[in-house]
Amino acid sequence: MKENLVTIPRWFDRHLHIRDGGMMRTVLSCTLKQRATGAVIMGNLKHPDETSTIQNTLSYRKRILNELQDLPSGELFGLGQKFKLCMTLYLTDDISPEEVVRGFKEGVWRAVKLYMANQKGQGGTTGSAHGVKNLLGRYPVFEAMEKHKIPLLGHFEAVEEDVDEFDREIVSVYRDLKPILESFPELPVVFEHLTDGRAADFVAEVDHDIYATVTAHHLMINRNTMFWGGMNPGHYCKPVPKRETHRAKVRQYVTSGNRRFGAGTDSAPHDESVKSRCYGCAAGIFTSPTAVELYTMTFDEDNALQHLGPFLSENFLALYGMEVSSETMTIERGTLVVPQKIGGVQVFKGGTELPWKLVG
Ligand code: NCD
Ligand code: ZN
Repeated sequence: MKENLVTIPRWFDRHLHIRDGGMMRTVLSCTLKQRATGAVIMGNLKHPDETSTIQNTLSYRKRILNELQDLPSGELFGLGQKFKLCMTLYLTDDISPEEVVRGFKEGVWRAVKLYMANQKGQGGTTGSAHGVKNLLGRYPVFEAMEKHKIPLLGHFEAVEEDVDEFDREIVSVYRDLKPILESFPELPVVFEHLTDGRAADFVAEVDHDIYATVTAHHLMINRNTMFWGGMNPGHYCKPVPKRETHRAKVRQYVTSGNRRFGAGTDSAPHDESVKSRCYGCAAGIFTSPTAVELYTMTFDEDNALQHLGPFLSENFLALYGMEVSSETMTIERGTLVVPQKIGGVQVFKGGTELPWKLVG
């Protein structure tokens, strides 16, 4: 018999872009309405140096807290000030190991986010141009992180222009990630927004304290959907969706209940004006308004609702200093119409119906 109601602990978004300024309120309230108890806050703002020092990260955190304070209580779902901000350091070539450890010890950041840039200073995704150019040069930082068990959250994609777009992730697995794991066997690592089936095999099999976040959209769309019926910027994000066999492989790990995989939406809102450019369309998909329903639908399709709770609300939460929530949320079988836009941002699957909705 098919379940019509699922009750699980409130969840934690392990990868979220809440941006800054006006957009922040919009996206933050979506995540609260989705009953998240907290989120890993990505720091690739307009000026990435805003999250690459202790002082700037503290002031970004303060701006988020102010916004949370200002949200109408009806939008807080009993969370609000309790919403746990897991801040990340935007790793650059400059910051010293001592400073990375100091920020961690002082509770400024909980983890370090690795974006990479190429020698021309071009990044592979939004706001990553100030990322690490010399990965080997950061090994002393990784050594300090290993010692203090500071998690490394990695955007593992090769950023050289001549690497094929669809191979960027797997090239980085063997060239960048594997040597890091071998050099720092005790370093906790999260492979962010994993998309490639071979990367999924690697994460699942390697003998290391390593996990992966998986987005709702990468579980649902393959690369064809970027081109079907014309170019669809609404399905363009980094890493780009891969061929169907990869989507299916990643999804198999997730919905079979492998504990190394957990929910991280990578919900990445962009104004419509930058998403609809003919050239240089911004990468990012906005899923936070219906993330829980999207994940639920995915697990239900695979007859795997029993694994939804661990994936959303349990797997590797301790890595972020989080406990499994004692409060619950309930998702019910029933029609949810996805809004086309929120705050000028196109919502993933906007205008369509989802077969589940969050009700309590
Ligand atoms: C993200 C963004 O817009 O900030 N975009 C994306 O396509 N995922 C950056 C990122 O996580 O790569
Ligand atoms: Zn992201």
